[in-house]
Amino acid sequence: MKSNELYDTKRNDEIFESNIRPQILDEYVGQKEVKENLRVFIEAAKMRDESLDHVLLYGPPGLGKTTLAHIIANELGANFKTASGPSIEKSGDLAAVLSTLEPGDVLFIDEIHRLPKFIEEMLYPAMEDFELDIVVGSDSSSRSIKIDLPPFTLVGATTRAGDVSSPLRDRFGIVNKLEYYTDEELSSIVKRTSRVLDMPITDSAALELAKRSRKTPRIANRLFKRVRDFALVDGLDEINDEVTKKSLNRLKVDEYGLDRIDIEYLSTLIEKFNGGPVGVETISSAIGEEISTLEEVVEPFLMQEGFIKRTPRGRVATEKAYKHIGISDNRLF
Ligand SMILES: Nc1ncnc2c1ncn2[C@@H]1O[C@H](COP(=O)(O)OP(=O)(O)OP(=O)(O)O)[C@@H](O)[C@H]1O
Ligand SMILES: [Mg+2]
Repeated sequence: MKSNELYDTKRNDEIFESNIRPQILDEYVGQKEVKENLRVFIEAAKMRDESLDHVLLYGPPGLGKTTLAHIIANELGANFKTASGPSIEKSGDLAAVLSTLEPGDVLFIDEIHRLPKFIEEMLYPAMEDFELDIVVGSDSSSRSIKIDLPPFTLVGATTRAGDVSSPLRDRFGIVNKLEYYTDEELSSIVKRTSRVLDMPITDSAALELAKRSRKTPRIANRLFKRVRDFALVDGLDEINDEVTKKSLNRLKVDEYGLDRIDIEYLSTLIEKFNGGPVGVETISSAIGEEISTLEEVVEPFLMQEGFIKRTPRGRVATEKAYKHIGISDNRLF
């Protein structure tokens, strides 16, 4: 993947994110249905003094899956332990993670679709019966031992729900899809970030920033950071419309929030492939971005906003895409 100018170093991001990440459900903006349901399930689990059922969270990157997993642990008053699909390679890795659990803990497994199949199978009895079967010894002397686990809540997150096998998916009692945010919701996230970072922003500047954030809180917060830099250098003590527009234009984020990769995707689809239909593999090699980036990040947003359509024969640009790229379409709609 090409580097994206909006992405900073990982370390800086971590510090920044831990400051602005909401800690409780009331601070978590939007996702109303998901939030209200979780509130009930968490309350009920607490009343019964039981662990919360396992939770699967899915949706495009940056919509708040990791944030929500932390919040679930906070609201339960439970410890938060974390692992990720690709980091669990051997049965010993899973045993090590599970053996540290205490009753009621939340175990967060990010990118859960990337767990190896045999690890996934070890996880089934752990999820269902809080039991772990492990094989010890080798060859003729090997035997299986059963380890009892304390009741715990597994929170799994994935950007690729379709890649989670159905036996695994079925073992989650609570399955939630996170949706893209409205401009109003994003604008309130921007205002919250502005308060936490102590840099005021006008209402209309917050809305402008929200509109250009691909409906994604992570992007809204990143753009806020950049606009704040421009405002600081310009000697402003409040972020206004003018500096917001100026900085976003400089960052090449257009009024729909489309960034460089989105625009490259659309113009390639239109100019090189006559608007499609064309396969994602072909677009990927034409613009030099990974297929997974296109499928998980670029296309869900372009589809949601009506710039492209998925057909059985491939991706197709819509009239809106032609208008936006500024090329007249010779095909009939
Ligand atoms: N509902 C929300 N309200 C306020 N801020 C939010 C919300 N959702 C996300 N954020 C902010 O957006 C940032 C990105 O969220 P998060 O890391 O949870 O996304 P994610 O879905 O886990 O992404 P990925 O798939 O890349 O792991 C966080 O720093 C958080 O501060
Ligand atoms: Mg995450």
